Amino acid sequence: MKILIIGNGAREHALTWAISQNPRCTKIYCSPGNAGTTELATNVDIDVTSNNEILEMCLLHSIDLVIVGPEKQFEQGLTNALKEKNILVFGPTMEASQLEASKSFTKNMCKHKKIPTGNYEIFSRVDDAKKFLREQPTPYVIKADGLAAGKGVTICNNLDEVIKDVQEILDGKFKSSNKVFIEEFLEGEELSYFVITDGYDYKCLGTAQDHKKIGEGDVGLNTGGMGAYSPSKIINNKLENKIQEEIIEPTLNGLRKEGLIYKGILYAGLMINNGEPKLIEYNIRFGDPECQVLMMRLNSDLLEILISTLENKILEQKITWSENDSITVVAANKGYPEQYKKNSIIKNLDTIKVDDNQQIFHAGTTRDKDGKILATGGRVLNSTVLSKSLSVARKKANEILENVKWENKYYRKDIGFRVIDK
Ligand code: AMP
Ligand code: GLY
Repeated sequence: MKILIIGNGAREHALTWAISQNPRCTKIYCSPGNAGTTELATNVDIDVTSNNEILEMCLLHSIDLVIVGPEKQFEQGLTNALKEKNILVFGPTMEASQLEASKSFTKNMCKHKKIPTGNYEIFSRVDDAKKFLREQPTPYVIKADGLAAGKGVTICNNLDEVIKDVQEILDGKFKSSNKVFIEEFLEGEELSYFVITDGYDYKCLGTAQDHKKIGEGDVGLNTGGMGAYSPSKIINNKLENKIQEEIIEPTLNGLRKEGLIYKGILYAGLMINNGEPKLIEYNIRFGDPECQVLMMRLNSDLLEILISTLENKILEQKITWSENDSITVVAANKGYPEQYKKNSIIKNLDTIKVDDNQQIFHAGTTRDKDGKILATGGRVLNSTVLSKSLSVARKKANEILENVKWENKYYRKDIGFRVIDK
């Protein structure tokens, strides 16, 4: 099989690594990919915001299956476009991708299907939002409606700051949104819950805990994710049954009622309080960095799982996991998620030794024409380790990053702190 993987993050490197282990896979292309994916695949730099370019690439290279990392391509209708030409693609249609792209869509569904989630109000005028906010308890939670690359949420106690934020969103800070959500603040512990579904049946595809803040101890600005571990330590059978019965199943049923057969990964961002789950948001793809730890723990073959889902045979597919813990620590360019210097050299990656339970997944890296690896993005490397305990895994993951000779390196040394250091 010839496979095309879309995206350029560590999630896509981890997917490439997992897919490459299947002997049926004869060739992998990554578009655009990064310096890490070049070890396992051929990078082809096409414009991935164009369905036509992706389609042409598929025809040119006789691609059998397209696997997409980010949400953007689903929202731009890539699944619809490829299906029309009978090219296999894993992930939801444009219509079903509203589950991530539109908070109004998802919140409406929660209302109709009685899915537990935070209360909210939607505003398009700043004066109305101000009036409402003055009567709300702190902290305030403000969200833009559409896709905002993980940066559309503000949680803060200061009313003036929040109002400024509301104004900016209504003034068009995010192209995707001219509405503001003011949401109830949910107390509790977060859990990322993944399922893989053919639209009717589904299986759990693991749990994880992300770390979104830039600073140790969860302080500072929100990022795409600075590290994650799997499995979550707060999941148990009772909670999992609740998540499935109160959240996942009504969602898939609700989508089907609207004529939307959701095929792909469904990632529920949940808040758990006293054993009760509430939906924070849905994502229509693997999380990044959560995917990296899931791929380390997955014992079954990813490609077979994806194919059985596309063939509506997911229930027949056995999915087994390592009993061990996995952790990934993200090394970012100093300054991220704000301004950072680009193109600094990562000097010694090729010489760092890792074993089968350790992987350095690349994100924002490029190999220049002399073979040097440059740090070109915000999040750059993911040191990912599988081990008997989370604390040993973290120690190893941090040690690997410590040995990387790269002047602009920044990483949190405390990933998993709520469990390890308590
Ligand atoms: P989102 O982009 O909706 O996933 O939000 C990003 C992060 O903000 C989440 O992972 C939570 O940590 C936090 N968050 C979002 N909404 C709420 C809420 N209503 N209450 C508490 N925390 C929230
Ligand atoms: N790690 C959060 C996300 O992928 O949305």
